[in-house]
Amino acid sequence: MRSWAEGALALVVLVGLGAALLLFSGETLGEGSTATTAPITVDPDAAVRGEIIANRTGCLACHTINGTPGSGPTWRGLAGSSRPLQSGEVVTADDVYLTNSIVAPGSEVVAGFDNLMPPNYGETLTEQEVGDLVEYIKSLAS
Ligand code: HEC
Repeated sequence: MRSWAEGALALVVLVGLGAALLLFSGETLGEGSTATTAPITVDPDAAVRGEIIANRTGCLACHTINGTPGSGPTWRGLAGSSRPLQSGEVVTADDVYLTNSIVAPGSEVVAGFDNLMPPNYGETLTEQEVGDLVEYIKSLAS
């Protein structure tokens, strides 16, 4: 008859295997999924500041927040979505992408749009202002 220790060991191995399997399948799901991979967390105070900056800076002359494209893509639902670029690449609109789109807009131009973004926001806006704008855009994710 098996000793208690052997039984306990078998149990530990089984539980370990199960956990590894779970972890592995979770990873596969994440990679295969096209939905937003990371939850979007927004700093609400920064988002309020960003809305003011967007109005003041004239972003909303080209961008809408209601889902209808203007001369630029709408900001509604943008954060976390897949962005097809003119280069043929498809990227996820994460914080880094959104920041680059503002300070270096020519580097990643969205497919179907012209490179109309003023190129100098990296100089005329502070890093904090750009961060606030990104938070505002993220607050419009859904
Ligand atoms: C003169 C029109 C115009 C103004 C003003 C403008 N944009 Fe844009 N923007 C565009 C166009 C056109 C695109 C799409 C082409 C590209 O990716 O550069 C774009 C792209 C973007 C993107 C990427 C969108 C996407 O769908 O992936 C972000 C983010 C963005 N703009 C933010 C801003 C912010 C913030 C401001 C104000 C500080 C601003 N824009 C001002 C025209 C404009």
